[in-house]
Amino acid sequence: MSALLQLKNVGVRFGAVQALSQVDLRIAPGERVALIGANGSGKSTLLRVLHGLVKPAAGSLLRDPSTRQAMLFQRPFMLATTAQNNVALGLWIRGARWRDARAQALPALARVGLLEQAGRNARALSGGQQQRLALARAWGLQPAMLLLDEPTSSLDPHAKREVEHLMEAFAAGGMTLVFASHNLGQVKRIATRVVYLEQGRVLADLPVREFFEGPLGATSREADLFVRGELG
Ligand SMILES: Nc1ncnc2c1ncn2[C@@H]1O[C@H](COP(=O)(O)OP(=O)(O)O)[C@@H](O)[C@H]1O
Ligand SMILES: [Mg+2]
Repeated sequence: MSALLQLKNVGVRFGAVQALSQVDLRIAPGERVALIGANGSGKSTLLRVLHGLVKPAAGSLLRDPSTRQAMLFQRPFMLATTAQNNVALGLWIRGARWRDARAQALPALARVGLLEQAGRNARALSGGQQQRLALARAWGLQPAMLLLDEPTSSLDPHAKREVEHLMEAFAAGGMTLVFASHNLGQVKRIATRVVYLEQGRVLADLPVREFFEGPLGATSREADLFVRGELG
């Protein structure tokens, strides 16, 4: 199967900090990849590399330039205008006419259950609604791959489940997901594959079941703690 994206021997440095070292990663269509590891292990940097926001100092990134992708952050960035305009602006930036973008925003809002909030100021929405609005903005672009950086870590349990359900529904519709998470249950619910990072290195890259059932303790004490649910 052809990869959507492939990293080979990628390294990223920030001054004295080696944020990523010798990372090999291949993402195939339809995968749901969870990036896990302690704070500072390199999850956000890896997502930024995958999205083209950080250029690796070493190694290579191969991507089919026609692959559309979108990224969600821990705290969604909302412009101080209506929910509808926030979605429409994402489409307009990518070349749609404003009137078309406004019209296309409505089914995207409906997709995440926010149609009734279309005319409200995005910044007045709850944290969970804002993250769903960010999902609408991404969905409107119809990306083949969606990158999410701890998308539910600032949400209450109910809002977290709503965002998880949307992630699962998008994946069921064929969207490839790559998400960073600190939440063991979430990883088990959503991921098909787990990439475990420690100090910028990939120490494990396994199907989700093997990751949680396998003898990871031999790989790393931190990985062992994670698998037993004692980390993060
Ligand atoms: N823009 C930056 N400037 C300097 N150091 C950074 C920057 N971004 C990340 N780092 C450092 O790189 C390492 C990996 O960070 P990050 O990718 O954010 O990890 P994680 O998302 O797993 O918590 C950490 O040591 C962090 O402090
Ligand atoms: Mg991070």
